[in-house]
Amino acid sequence: MIFESHAHYDDEAFQEDREELLTSLAAHGIGTVINVGASLESCRHTLRLMEQYPFVYGAMGVHPSETAELTEDSMVWLQAQCSLDKVVAVGEIGLDYYWKEPEGSVQKKWFERQLEMAREVKLPVIIHSRDAAKDTLDMMRALHAEEVGGVVHCYSYTKEMAREYLKMDFYFGIGGVITFKNAKKLKEAVEWIPMEKILLETDSPYLSPEPNRGKRNSSLNLPYIAQEIAKIKGITYEEVVEITGKNADRLFLSEH
Ligand code: NI
Repeated sequence: MIFESHAHYDDEAFQEDREELLTSLAAHGIGTVINVGASLESCRHTLRLMEQYPFVYGAMGVHPSETAELTEDSMVWLQAQCSLDKVVAVGEIGLDYYWKEPEGSVQKKWFERQLEMAREVKLPVIIHSRDAAKDTLDMMRALHAEEVGGVVHCYSYTKEMAREYLKMDFYFGIGGVITFKNAKKLKEAVEWIPMEKILLETDSPYLSPEPNRGKRNSSLNLPYIAQEIAKIKGITYEEVVEITGKNADRLFLSEH
């Protein structure tokens, strides 16, 4: 079964058919889903999805672009949720300089606070980093993120940058972008990254792979991503599914 390591089924894009879609996943070979918080509201919704569906696990965290809403009180609430059995990670957290709001200093403050929270509750982190490769890496090094562990989600940087994240023993979430024709640098990076460090993800409803690029994404598109990785790595589709599943189990579920 395929392990979906990053989706946002709380998103309003699934308002009409969420139940139908989620209950159909198993029949399409999707075994486990991590629903990843991006705002306080999406964390609350993630908690409900976790309760409703046995195969859904949750990550609690606030996306860099949403950090203006964070307060010390909300950090207390977030940390309390992290002790729930089915909460398996802190995320998504990080830096996003593509969107300029809130300003970098605010993003950095809450990235640090949430990373420190992950250390306290002993959960891995799910890192979001867009147009912020150097600052993300500098902060992770300064905060000793290698002691916390986790995954760089929707990995989209170079092979050289991958080497630095691998030194910290991080995993790499590979999604739909790998199927895009112009993703030459990412394909090079994936060729280089050890198979034991790759996780499959969609980031649904965003970033649909080819041949569904531009449409709403769902975990049903994971086979296109696995097929592309199999091609790049010169192994079978089944091997990609099995190894990435074991990787995600090891990172998120084995200690729970
Ligand atoms: Ni995401």
